[in-house]
Amino acid sequence: MSAIVLDGEATAAKIRAQVMQEVEYLKAEGINPGLGTILVGDNPSSARYVEMKHADCLEVGITSVHRHLSVEAGFKELLDTISEFNHDPKIHAYLVQLPLPSGFDEVAVLLNVDPDKDVDGLHPVNLGKLVMGVSGPYSPLACTPRGILELLKAYAVPIQSRHVVILGRGLTIGRPLALLLSSKRPDCNAAVTVIHTGVRDLGYYTSQADIVIVAVGRAGLITKDMIKPGACVVGAGTSFEGRKLLSDVAEDVSQVAGWVTPRIGGVGPMTRAMLLVNAVEAAKRSQRTSKETNA
Ligand code: GUN
Repeated sequence: MSAIVLDGEATAAKIRAQVMQEVEYLKAEGINPGLGTILVGDNPSSARYVEMKHADCLEVGITSVHRHLSVEAGFKELLDTISEFNHDPKIHAYLVQLPLPSGFDEVAVLLNVDPDKDVDGLHPVNLGKLVMGVSGPYSPLACTPRGILELLKAYAVPIQSRHVVILGRGLTIGRPLALLLSSKRPDCNAAVTVIHTGVRDLGYYTSQADIVIVAVGRAGLITKDMIKPGACVVGAGTSFEGRKLLSDVAEDVSQVAGWVTPRIGGVGPMTRAMLLVNAVEAAKRSQRTSKETNA
């Protein structure tokens, strides 16, 4: 058996085409969606990811603004930049690229981002809304979880009432994804188990799952013996061997799985596409808020 490949590149391209139309429509209404990024330090992978986000913005017509701070800049300068973005009406949504260099307090950074402009959906207010089941157009939803859900839906992978095992409990993927997939939405409503690398016998859990989603960053962690035949396997964690991008999912998994993400072009492009969707939704919300204020 050879698994169906969950092609994130092709799915994201369709989403970008829809976003492009939305942006055109918004521009005709006098709204010019703007996305900001802040990068601290010189991590080459982070720099590359940010670069790709700006290329996506250019493709769909979203204005993008970038600020690069050196590690020496310090926390105060980062907070000043965040404050500037919070107050800039041309920036509807922005992110501070993670991970931050050591010594920078990520939680303090996230707390200072205006929740209305939090394109990552990682501010406690927005994570709280996810807990309450009011994410989506009403508040930003974390990009990678949203991208994974859209990728599964694009391939009609059954989710409702199925058992999803998420390996990884991080802030950007595992935790919000568990909240999303277990939420009482017709396209979610799954039984979700969250495990992590501190758990003994990972295969005991993964082999019971209809969908396994791995967000660890350890190459080849999930092998075919850990997967139920026909299950769906999504690799959301990445690591590098030199410049080669590696997946948490070993290649042999495709021999038993029903669906699997490719090593390159699976979740990554979907995350970036959701960033654009979140930015456009933030621009629309800001228009509604200003109309209400002026009413
Ligand atoms: N680094 C890797 N993934 C992400 C993400 O989704 N948001 C931010 N801000 N940084 C990241």
